[in-house]
Amino acid sequence: MTRYAVRTATSADAAGISRLMAERADLLESRDPRLRLPRSPATVRPGLVAVDPAGAVRAHVVPVASEVAEDDEMLAFAAPRSTTWRDLAFADGEALHAVAVAARRTGTADDVLWPTADDAAPFVAAGLGALFAYALRPPGPLAPGPAAVVRRAEPADTDTLTALHVEEIAFHEAHGGHIRVVPGLEPAFRARLARLWSGDRPEDGASLLHVLEIDGEVAGMCESMLTVVPDDGTARPLCPGRYGYLNSVSVTAAHRGRGWGRTLTTAVLDTFAAYDVAGCTLWFSHANPVASRFWPRLGFRPLWTSYERRE
Ligand SMILES: CC(C)(COP(=O)(O)OP(=O)(O)OC[C@H]1O[C@@H](n2cnc3c(N)ncnc32)[C@H](O)[C@@H]1OP(=O)(O)O)[C@@H](O)C(=O)NCCC(=O)NCCS
Repeated sequence: MTRYAVRTATSADAAGISRLMAERADLLESRDPRLRLPRSPATVRPGLVAVDPAGAVRAHVVPVASEVAEDDEMLAFAAPRSTTWRDLAFADGEALHAVAVAARRTGTADDVLWPTADDAAPFVAAGLGALFAYALRPPGPLAPGPAAVVRRAEPADTDTLTALHVEEIAFHEAHGGHIRVVPGLEPAFRARLARLWSGDRPEDGASLLHVLEIDGEVAGMCESMLTVVPDDGTARPLCPGRYGYLNSVSVTAAHRGRGWGRTLTTAVLDTFAAYDVAGCTLWFSHANPVASRFWPRLGFRPLWTSYERRE
């Protein structure tokens, strides 16, 4: 039983929703100064509110349904059908639970991107788990690992790099099943390589590909991109600026745990330093026992957590 009633939000709820959002934004920004959080809803469509017996708004969510096509590489990371919680605000775990239950659809996963600085417990109580971290590393050099050749990729590397990318995704399959190899993975990666070989530059959205060589053999790779967060007044997961984004990092199984991943990442971060980035970002899975230790060790601190409930 809950003391909250859930109903569709009306314009009369706007002030109460914004108050809830502002209170939590103040709290979380004080806990993590890297955050810039919205203080009013960005979505125009009406959401759901949980109200207490006095009629005060205690939670708000706009459930947004989405589907990932069978041939989309994102199916490697996402559920085929999801309800994403937008413009979430809640005063307490019970109110969050009330709107979560009301927003739930059979055969559909739930997901919400929420500041890591907040407590996980209300999300866990609502049936979600902390699946992925979106981590940020501020600019600054990284102490290198052992010396090795790290060079830019060439067209002749295409098949080797594709195999390493698939190997990276496959590594996750043994650790929880939230990331898996899907049909769209390889074609999408090859298409990004083709764009690079055609001469597109990172400034135009092409990937950067770093190749690690040990004893003349390819032993790892990193695919990364330059991303720009516009300064247009909209609250986004990152403050406005230019960032490096590490999309895929892989060291072959035989060479792991000897510092080569550090060597590879040092070269990638050095490349981004030349672009004068405000930091570097990446996603890692909490279920990946290597990545969840490796990235924090290299200075990537989780900023956002993707809480999800998979069917
Ligand atoms: C993640 C990966 C790229 C790391 O490369 P690596 O060569 O194995 O890592 P390194 O040996 O360079 O380790 C660097 C640091 O992380 C730490 N680390 C690495 N693996 C660790 C583990 N399993 N447990 C605890 N710490 C670990 C090391 O202790 C080391 O710390 P130090 O340099 O401060 O002493 C590599 O293991 C890999 O390809 N894993 C499979 C695919 C994958 O998970 N990719 C990342 C997806 S986000």
